[in-house]
Amino acid sequence: MAKRKDKIRMDGTNGDAAPSDALVLFGATGDLVYKKIFPALYAMAKRGVLNVPVVGVASSPWSVAQLRKRATDGIKKSGKIDDKQALRHLLSLLRYVVGDYSNPATYKAIKETLGDAQRPAHYLAIPPALFAIVIKGLGAAGLAENARVIVEKPFGRDLASARELNFIAKSVFPENAIFRIDHYLGKEAIMNILYFRFANSFLEPIWNRNCVASVQITLAENFGVEGRGEFYESAGCLRDVIQNHLFQVVALLAMEPPAYQGYEAVHIEKAKVFKAMRPLQPDDLVRGQYVGYRKEPHVAKGSDVETFCALRLHIDSWRWAGVPWYLRSGKFLATTAAEVLIQLKPPPQRLFDDSAPANGRANYLRFRLSPDFVIALAARVKRVGQEFVGDQQELDLFYKQSQEELPYARLLTDVMAGNGTLFTREDAIEAAWAVVEPVLKTHHPVLPYQPGSWGPKKADALLTAHGDWFNPTLEQAAT
Ligand code: BG6
Repeated sequence: MAKRKDKIRMDGTNGDAAPSDALVLFGATGDLVYKKIFPALYAMAKRGVLNVPVVGVASSPWSVAQLRKRATDGIKKSGKIDDKQALRHLLSLLRYVVGDYSNPATYKAIKETLGDAQRPAHYLAIPPALFAIVIKGLGAAGLAENARVIVEKPFGRDLASARELNFIAKSVFPENAIFRIDHYLGKEAIMNILYFRFANSFLEPIWNRNCVASVQITLAENFGVEGRGEFYESAGCLRDVIQNHLFQVVALLAMEPPAYQGYEAVHIEKAKVFKAMRPLQPDDLVRGQYVGYRKEPHVAKGSDVETFCALRLHIDSWRWAGVPWYLRSGKFLATTAAEVLIQLKPPPQRLFDDSAPANGRANYLRFRLSPDFVIALAARVKRVGQEFVGDQQELDLFYKQSQEELPYARLLTDVMAGNGTLFTREDAIEAAWAVVEPVLKTHHPVLPYQPGSWGPKKADALLTAHGDWFNPTLEQAAT
């Protein structure tokens, strides 16, 4: 069979797109660039795939030497510097432009600094409220020609603002030059969901409402907002990680097989999942706030912003009718881990005294997404002896995460090569916003929870007939 040109490539290229010849980092002095982008650029430099000028832009009156120091510190903080030549190479590529994003002079200075570069990629690592201002500034300065733009999440604050942002972005850049980034899509364990589902034949017969009782997805973090109080006050957990990171995981788990071997086909199927999600209602959600959040810098004394959110979701499709999806995420929870649990139905008859559900959890498939990477199938096995009793055992596929390329390095390499496979499409983003829209403003007040717990007790009641939350523990990964 002839292969389509846009087939699912995992090598970061699409063959015929012209590579970007500069990277412009808006928000160069900010937290995201410090923690994630500099380490990613260093990783790219080590692999020899970063050979273009990197122009930092921000309002702080820094020198390029200060930016270099900041880059070095960020890289050191994320791990050790094991390739001094790559670091020197990266630092030599850095430039810096000081300016206000609403001032045309800033864009003029960027243009001058870009010199001979003809096809820059502009990365908006800035607060969402500034996205439109910078996109318009780029357009007005002629910096959008042959260029690409990378927009961080959350893409908009609600459906109306996402639509407006899409409209503005498309009035300046063609759709294939807009890269809506969600770093979860660059994680190996998450790319593997797509691969595992469609590279194996044994899953398909059970991957539906006939065998699946419910699905749980947990993204837990054992730290707080870590100085990001101002951002959190404008976002909250639902906008920060659920509408994007966790919904993307849901889409990969719930989608139909792509109709052909092309990444467009993957985008089409994922968008259908968002469109089939039932809009959330206030009772589908439990919102929590860790005790102490209101004392964080830039947080309102009476803040009702959620640092924890658990929700019950329905996908009204043929495959998933009647199967509840339980999603939860929170700051300052008991551990740091992300995990999916596909809870299978118990056998139709209880032939043995110890069969599920009376005796614990029925069979399940568990996908540990981070900090390590596990796929485990839990099944009951008979104990040696005369009685017909047994235990649930996990059969593990386990990979060490250290082999993984940093998600941002993977995704930035893709952008520079013009490969949009792992980025989100306009229709998918808008459909995802439509699901959360009804609860963005209308919701129950936040419930307090103790740091180190699993969030407010009330979150347990969401599961009703479907047992308990499956709390990830780090020991599970090692077995
Ligand atoms: C970011 C959120 O997008 O994802 C953070 O803004 C969150 O609040 C982070 O901590 C989680 O990503 P990761 O890759 O560390 O699991």
